[in-house]
Amino acid sequence: MKAIYPGSFDPITNGHIDIINRSKDIFDELIIGITTNVQKKHLFTIDERKKMIEEIFKDEKKIKVKTFDGLLTSFCEEEKTNYVIRGLRAVSDYEYELQMAMANKSLNKNLETIFLVASHKFNFLSSSIVKEIAYYHGDISALVPKNVEIKLKNKYERG
Ligand code: PNS
Repeated sequence: MKAIYPGSFDPITNGHIDIINRSKDIFDELIIGITTNVQKKHLFTIDERKKMIEEIFKDEKKIKVKTFDGLLTSFCEEEKTNYVIRGLRAVSDYEYELQMAMANKSLNKNLETIFLVASHKFNFLSSSIVKEIAYYHGDISALVPKNVEIKLKNKYERG
């Protein structure tokens, strides 16, 4: 079975990677679907975000990295899957995630959103937190892979 793990991944963090690694043990094929979240202002271009993720999973045969425009339900249709994975951290994620899952279900009644609970050590982690720490030149080496750490440092050094 195939599933899509969608997100803006601006940038990917160790929390996302944990969800990806656990999902790939459940499904035969996992598509990481990168898109523009119209409710957020992104730091990295979609191509930069895709390249960073491709570097991390280059040796993983079960994982494919793709970008999409438009609705997630349309992307699921294109990819011929009804399974969407999302990670849940604190209760504060729940309202937004529930709203999205229900909106997607209303667009495609066969679509199932599967929530994986974030591992304890990544419970506080988000792309926004990582960007903020990096902006103030704090240590993000335990929060993101090396290639992402370098890209973030470059972004904020150049200003
Ligand atoms: O990582 P994010 O930013 O929390 O991911 C949110 C994302 C990209 C999964 C969501 O915004 C999305 O599915 N966007 C595609 C447009 C869409 O289908 N919107 C309707 C569902 S709310």
